[in-house]
Amino acid sequence: MVTCSAPGKIYVFGEHAVVYGESAICCAIDIRTRVNAEPSESVEIESVLGKTGIDYDIHPYVSNVIERIREIVPIKGVSIKIDSDLPVGSGLGSSAAVTIATIQTLNYLFGCKLSLEDIANLGYEVERKVQGAASPTDTYVSTVGGVVMIPERRKLKLIECGIVIGDTKTFSSTKKLVANVAELRESYPEIIIPLLSTIGEMSHIGEEMVNKRDYTLVGNLMNVNHGLLDAIGVGSPELSLLVYAARKKGALGAKITGAGGGGCMVALIDVDGNRGVADAIIDSGGNAIITKATEHGVILESDI
Ligand code: PMV
Repeated sequence: MVTCSAPGKIYVFGEHAVVYGESAICCAIDIRTRVNAEPSESVEIESVLGKTGIDYDIHPYVSNVIERIREIVPIKGVSIKIDSDLPVGSGLGSSAAVTIATIQTLNYLFGCKLSLEDIANLGYEVERKVQGAASPTDTYVSTVGGVVMIPERRKLKLIECGIVIGDTKTFSSTKKLVANVAELRESYPEIIIPLLSTIGEMSHIGEEMVNKRDYTLVGNLMNVNHGLLDAIGVGSPELSLLVYAARKKGALGAKITGAGGGGCMVALIDVDGNRGVADAIIDSGGNAIITKATEHGVILESDI
């Protein structure tokens, strides 16, 4: 029996701009999805969503991974159990984490000899197939862990301050938000294109700040990034409420993370920060998750 886990992620800077080739900085967070598998007579997939065989509706990511692994090695059956600490569909990369953890689990179990690069690429293909369109960001960060500059795929120094995520508990569709930004960009190219390139520039300036571990400056820039995300129409009253509540309680910086429109925000806090920011998020109607950055991408948890 093999168990592997893979992390979720936050955007420190650059969501939406990255769709237009600008740079973004992403960070793997210590909230993980674990996948456990053993050979079996048939395919069984078990998660909070239910127990199924190959099922492209209920378990599309895992089913597509099995299909792709079967092109590499013959698999009669496999019993897979998924256990995730990541909230689903809130921009923290839950689908990438389950996809990457499943690929690595089957890689070990059936000796497929996939490298980390193969795993990231295969994960991207699976996400693209399931979602219609996807960026390679989530699957790449979930595979390699740490703090990564995208699309350059350059590793930055690990973020060592505290991270608090605020979940608005409102649904957000990445596809719809990306389409809205595209429409705005087409309507007002003179205004929106420079805003997107300013966001990209923020990642370049932010890279040095992250590497100098100056989280006060990183936080200041995150606040500016939030304002620009609002300007391109991906904010929401719930997100702003949590962002301002976090800042009022002393967060170093706070912004939307991911597609926006709902979903999650992220705040940086001092390493020895108290629960103040998390409590403020809860008092403002959100779910708070206190976490930290992790250098561990996909890892083997056990092989027995
Ligand atoms: O909400 P998420 O985690 O799916 O992030 C979306 C990030 C975008 O830049 C808006 C889209 C993308 O594919 O990069």
